[in-house]
Parts: sequence; structure tokens; C-alpha cells
Amino acid sequence: VLHLHLHMCAWWACLVLSVLQVTGSDVTGPDKDRLPNFILIMVDDLGIGDIGCYGNDTIRTPHIDRLASEGVKLTQHLSAAPLCTPSRTAFLTGRYALRSGLGSEGRVQVLLFLGGSGGLPPSETTFAKRLQQQGYTTGLVGKWHQGVSCEQREDHCHHPNLHGFSSFYGLPFTWFNDCVPGHGSDILADLQKVLRSLTLLLGLGLVTLVSRGVRSIENHILKLVSKLDTHLSRDREVVEQPIRVDTLPLRLLREAQAFIHRNKERPFLLFFSLVHMHTPLFKNPQFMGKSRHGLYGDNLEEMDWIIGQVTETVDSLSLSNHTLMYFTSDHGGHLEDKDATGQKGGWNGIYKGGKAMGGWEGGIRVPGIFRWPGRLPPGRQVHEPTSLMDLYPTLKYLARDTQPDRLLDGHNLMPLLEGTVHRSEHEFMFHYCGVYLNAVRWHPPGTHMFTPNFSPEGAVGCYHTHVCMCHGDYVTPQTPPLLYDLTHDPSESRPLTPQAEPRYYEVLEQVDEAVRRHRHTLKEHVHPEGPSAQMSWSRILWRPWLQPCCGTFPLCGCEEDAHNMTTF
Ligand SMILES: *[C@@H]1O[C@H](CO)[C@@H](O)[C@H](O)[C@H]1NC(C)=O
Ligand SMILES: *[C@@H]1O[C@H](CO)[C@@H](O)[C@H](O)[C@H]1NC(C)=O
Ligand SMILES: *[C@@H]1O[C@H](CO)[C@@H](O)[C@H](O)[C@H]1NC(C)=O
Repeated sequence: VLHLHLHMCAWWACLVLSVLQVTGSDVTGPDKDRLPNFILIMVDDLGIGDIGCYGNDTIRTPHIDRLASEGVKLTQHLSAAPLCTPSRTAFLTGRYALRSGLGSEGRVQVLLFLGGSGGLPPSETTFAKRLQQQGYTTGLVGKWHQGVSCEQREDHCHHPNLHGFSSFYGLPFTWFNDCVPGHGSDILADLQKVLRSLTLLLGLGLVTLVSRGVRSIENHILKLVSKLDTHLSRDREVVEQPIRVDTLPLRLLREAQAFIHRNKERPFLLFFSLVHMHTPLFKNPQFMGKSRHGLYGDNLEEMDWIIGQVTETVDSLSLSNHTLMYFTSDHGGHLEDKDATGQKGGWNGIYKGGKAMGGWEGGIRVPGIFRWPGRLPPGRQVHEPTSLMDLYPTLKYLARDTQPDRLLDGHNLMPLLEGTVHRSEHEFMFHYCGVYLNAVRWHPPGTHMFTPNFSPEGAVGCYHTHVCMCHGDYVTPQTPPLLYDLTHDPSESRPLTPQAEPRYYEVLEQVDEAVRRHRHTLKEHVHPEGPSAQMSWSRILWRPWLQPCCGTFPLCGCEEDAHNMTTF
């Protein structure tokens, strides 16, 4: 099977070409009548090179490795975007994020404040909503990062409870540096530059003193807002603000386990969306100093332990034969996240690039493991290209949901996982960075368009801006597109040339045609206000009246009662 991945490195163009093979076996499933449970585990910012069974022999991830050896491991599992918000939108909806209005045209590609009005539009459908309609009990534990409210503090138009999760316990926003004093600020880093240029514009001609004063007020407001956004909610209620850091991982784990216990008698969906491996890193004495890779490695091993605890819960309740467990990351590790203390972001193994780079493999190739004893063959590997967007149609299929639906970009994975087919239905995959088409992958027979400008020169990563951008002067258009053979050159180090690759021009033509067809579907199946509607500045910016808060705004603050911690 010839497998080409074109890497389009501008509006139109880079390429990758891969030859992939898959071996198969047939397994007949037991218990055809019972609807299976689903436990979807998503780790934040985890790199594919961070995991033992993906080739890392210096870190210990026995519990994740065990899921792979008891189930199916995907080696070409790809996120639909290289950053949290859009990748998760695509995962939840089975469609590219720009169809829901969550593509970005500029610098800010993730939701920055809970007090913004952007987010997953109420008109969108998640797999949780579909499963709910099939009688499933649905729960989300952990990170959301798809917005909260549209116009009023309590309208909760983007809230998990309104998007199909009957129960929610976790972070409506994300785990970020502002959550822990002394860790600097993610939000400030992102916004300061923007505000500086605004201040500069407004203050043109004003004395430096005034602009310094403005800056310090900006900083204070932003710091306050960031503090307010580190909070925990149970369903629609803010139960802790700000979050107590030390007990957070355990509280999320206990909640996930309690959900499984509570629902062991009926079909359930649990989306366990971990706060690991995003910075700030945790400092759990049980794991500190135990790994060979500093605090980052210690956090990896803690994360692996958490996965082991969940698996243990499933097994001890004899649910394993009725439960599809899935393990993945929302995108690649954050290369630029390191300081004098060492590595703080994930490791992407042999793959080039990382988080925020939609065209390079390191930004989008993530672990993908499915375990379902009795139904999926243990130890099987699938080297075909698959997407996080495939979960939506796969869950629908398994929940026997045959009702009409919107146009989906994902495909049911069961035939590939069970080995009844050997070829992925993804002939073309479109790798987006914001609203910009960054690369195209062609299977069977090739892709793409722009490359990020690394800084400083010679680095692999955008250290000057901390993450790479996809617009304006931050990228180099590639005409003709760069083309790579992903099978023989998975690290994307040797672009193909017309001289060396006989099918070079054919690949470019095919990709061009596929992009044309894809764009046609975008015309009809995107958010009515446009592919970036939810990410516009007017929706991103903070509105005090939308700020989730327990107590009296702006003096928000509360602590979760330890006695209220879910127990079983
Ligand atoms: C294993 O993962 C750690 C943590 O990301 C990384 O520092 C190390 O380089 C990786 N080792 C290998 C052999 O890939
Ligand atoms: C699960 O299924 C396998 C294969 O069908 C069977 O051998 C095993 O006993 C089952 N386990 C449980 C706990 O039912
Ligand atoms: C704790 O539980 C009590 C009794 O159910 C309830 O009244 C209270 O609101 C809960 N507190 C929190 C912070 O959830």
C-alpha cells in the first residue's frame, strides 16, 4: 500500500509519502447485545515519544504499555489541530474545528478567558450528546477548554452539561501556569504582546511613564482574571476557586473511579481529560525524584499510575469485557517549554516539531491505544492513518446510533481495529493550524503549504514567541509545496524532488484536487458566521459579566469541602 503524505507548506502546499502495511486477524465478539461502556482518556500536551510502548526505553509507563499489549496500538494516530481548544473541538464533534467556528486567523488559537463568549457553539453535536440519546450515562472528569457562557454568566451555552455530559467535575478552563503562584503566566505571555502594541498605538506620542502605568494596570487585571479562571466546577456550580493544587490529581482520579462505580450496571461514557502533562508540573512527593527525566519524567510516571488506577477499577468490577478503553493526547509535546530546571514539555521522539505546529508530525502524531478484551485482538498494531475525529463515528457505531447526522470528517475505526479491513478510509487528511491548511496527507498513492519560521535560527521550535504561529510573517510559504515520504522519512528531514520521486507531479495534482473537494464541503458545513467566528477578538476578550465566580464578583473564592469528595 503506497501512502503519501503531502506537506502543504503555504496555502497550497508540503508532502509526505508513506508506504504502510497492516497485518490483521479476526476476532469474534462476545455478548453482542450489551451496549459497551466507553472510557476515553485524554492526556494534555503529552508527546508520542513520552511513552514506553512508543519507543521510550528510559521512562516507565507500565500501565499504558499494558493497555497497548492487551489491545490495539495505532502508530499513525493524528490530532486534527496542534493546540488544545481546536483539537478537542474536533475530537468531540468528529469534524475539523473550523466547521464549528473554532479556527483562528491570528495569534490566539485557544480560548484565553472563561469570561470570553466564544466556545463550542450550542448548535454543535458531541459524541456525548449522541450517546445520551442512546440511553448512555455520560460524564466528563477533568479539563474542558471549550468555553462556558455566551451572554450571561449562567447561560452556560458552551458548558459540558449542555453538550451531552450529564455530569461534569473538573476545570472548565485548563491547567495553566497562572494556577500556581511563582510559575509565571501563560495568559500574560500571550496577551502582553498584543496589549503592548495596542497601548503603543493608543499611546503614540504619550510619555513612557503613562504607558508604563497602563501596562501595570493591564497586568493586574490579567493576573486577577487568570486566578479566577483556575477553578473547579461540579456541573454548573463553581466549587473551588482558586484550585488547591496538591490534591487536584487525586481528586480527579477519585471522581473518575466513583463515576465508574456508580454506573457499573448500565452503559456509560466517561471522558477522563487529565490535567497532566500541561505545566505547571505537579510536585507529588510519592513520585518526585523517581524518574530519570527530572520533574517532567516524575509527572509522566504519576500520570501512568493514574491510568493504572482507572484500569484497575474497570478490571476489579469485571467490566473489562464490556468496556472500550481509549488512551490518547490532544496533540504533540511543547518543545519550547523548558528552562534552567530542564524539560517541562513533552517529547515527540523521532518526529519533527511539536505543539502549535500543525504541519510537522511532532505537532499532531499522538499515542492512540484501544483496549477491549474479548473484542479487540491483544497486541495488534495498526499503521494506517487514523484521526482523533474517528472516535465520534466509532462510538456512534458501537452505540447503534443510526440516526442522520451532519457531515463528519472521521470514520468508524472498528473494522481497522478488529482487522476486518486493512486500509484506512482516510484517503486525504487535512492538517490545519488555525484556519490555515498547513499540510495534506495522501493515502494511498501523498502534500503541503507553509512552514513555521523557527527562532532563533537553527532551532527546531519558535523559542522567541514560545509557540509557533501560522499566519503572516511567522511562516514561510512553500511553493511548490514540500513533499515528504513519511514511511521512509518519518522525521521529515528529506523533502522529495521531481527528479527523485517519479510521482511528484501526480501527487501535487491529486492533492490539489482533494483540497478543492474539501474546500467545497467547507462552504456548506462550517459555522454560519464563519470558520473563525468563535475565535474572533470580540469573543475572546474578557467580559466581567461572564466570569464564572463563587461568592461575590470580583471577590470570588471558595474551597471544596473535603467531606464532599466523592467516595465509594
Ligand atoms: C523519554 O521521555 C523523556 C521525557 O519526555 C525524554 O526526556 C527522553 O528523551 C525520552 N527517551 C527516549 C529514549 O526517547
Ligand atoms: C472476557 O472475555 C474473554 C474472551 O472471550 C474470556 O476468556 C474471559 O473469561 C472474559 N472475562 C471476564 C471477566 O468475563
Ligand atoms: C457539600 O455538601 C453539602 C451537603 O450535601 C452541601 O450543602 C454543600 O453545598 C456542599 N459543598 C460544596 C462545596 O459542594
